Amino acid sequence: MSRIKKLTDDIYFVGVNDRHTHLFENMIPLPYGISYNAYIITDEKTALIDTVEISFSEQFIENILLVLNGKPLDYLIVNHMEPDHSGSIKMIQRIFPKVQIIGNSKTIGMIDGFFGLTENMYEVKDGDILSLGKHQLQFYLTPMVHWPETMMTYDTTTCTLFSGDAFGSFRALDGGVLDSELNTELYWDEMRRYYANIVGKYGVPVQKALQKLSGIDLQMICSTHGPVWTDNIADTVAIYNKLSKYEADRGVVIAYGSMYGNTEKMAELFASYLVDYGMPNVLVHNLSKSDPSEVLRDIFKYKGLVLGSPTYSNELYPKVNELLAKLKTRAIKNRVFGCFGSFTWAGNSVNMLKEFGAEMQWDCCQVSIDQKMAGTKNNNTEIEALAKELCSKIRE
Ligand SMILES: Cc1cc2nc3c(=O)[nH]c(=O)nc-3n(C[C@H](O)[C@H](O)[C@H](O)COP(=O)(O)O)c2cc1C
Ligand SMILES: [Fe+2]
Ligand SMILES: [Fe+2]
Repeated sequence: MSRIKKLTDDIYFVGVNDRHTHLFENMIPLPYGISYNAYIITDEKTALIDTVEISFSEQFIENILLVLNGKPLDYLIVNHMEPDHSGSIKMIQRIFPKVQIIGNSKTIGMIDGFFGLTENMYEVKDGDILSLGKHQLQFYLTPMVHWPETMMTYDTTTCTLFSGDAFGSFRALDGGVLDSELNTELYWDEMRRYYANIVGKYGVPVQKALQKLSGIDLQMICSTHGPVWTDNIADTVAIYNKLSKYEADRGVVIAYGSMYGNTEKMAELFASYLVDYGMPNVLVHNLSKSDPSEVLRDIFKYKGLVLGSPTYSNELYPKVNELLAKLKTRAIKNRVFGCFGSFTWAGNSVNMLKEFGAEMQWDCCQVSIDQKMAGTKNNNTEIEALAKELCSKIRE
């Protein structure tokens, strides 16, 4: 049972929804599912752009055969080799043995490496053009967005950009495919969560890619996940531009670990002082409960970051350490930073957090609170002082 989704006179959506997988990359929760998008252009020649995760290949092939309606498949363009998009390449070659597979030199090496396929490969270089007849496809190499072989395919005839993972989001497609058919409010935060977790380390390559694309007319963006963008192209590009520059809105994420509630009480008190000082968007995450992918998303969104940790065997609480590793991997820049913690006999967590803030070259608050056990009344004053300092730094 399939229904074909036509995007323009001869561009079709042939992707699938995945509402089964719990964890993307075996790690990142998918509470609302995900889509693996692929597209066909039918012209004098036919081209399929990207494939889908292998367990969905049956539905995918059915979609393709419906669109082709007896025509041969001439080209498979491979924009990205992560298995959520490359998974069905072997299957496509089996069903369409004459199909020419198009990629850059890195793609072709990976197709051999993953699938042992070497026949009917056609290598393209940055800027090359492939004519399908009416449609002229131009290839833009965009390395490290977010793998080395990633490229984008631009249809100069319809001004459609097949962007790979860029501009993609988690969340399956509920009935529609175009943004104009969907409640886009549900996708923006899932786009940020996708970016923060999957692409977040590669701000510089994303900026390079955006510059490369800046001169082209964009009427439609066909990413490999989430809505096809037509009505919200400016907003979509603006979100990517902002995230990849590590620019953020006014607001503070307080992320803490706590076994017995002492550090947690500091977090609650600190949050309430921030609100008193007029800070919008105060978000509190208990790192033993919040999903790390959401914590990361929020840290990408907001300018202020405050971490709280008890001292644990002379180190940071392990859940806090896990977050630090993720922040370091992504080289998060331009944050205003504060920290606090609790200990019983010899505190070390606050020292370690301060060192981390300095290492990340964040704008670090002078005030920090290293609280012995449940603390004293003085701690309230210090926590308020940290809130005041953080707010004034974010206002600057
Ligand atoms: C397994 C474990 C290891 C700890 N290691 C240290 C330590 O090395 N130094 C210290 O001063 N306190 C240590 N503590 C005590 C806690 O840091 C202290 O009780 C703190 O107030 C706990 O904060 P919480 O209530 O937010 O969990 C340890 C506690 C536990 C349970
Ligand atoms: Fe990917
Ligand atoms: Fe992907």
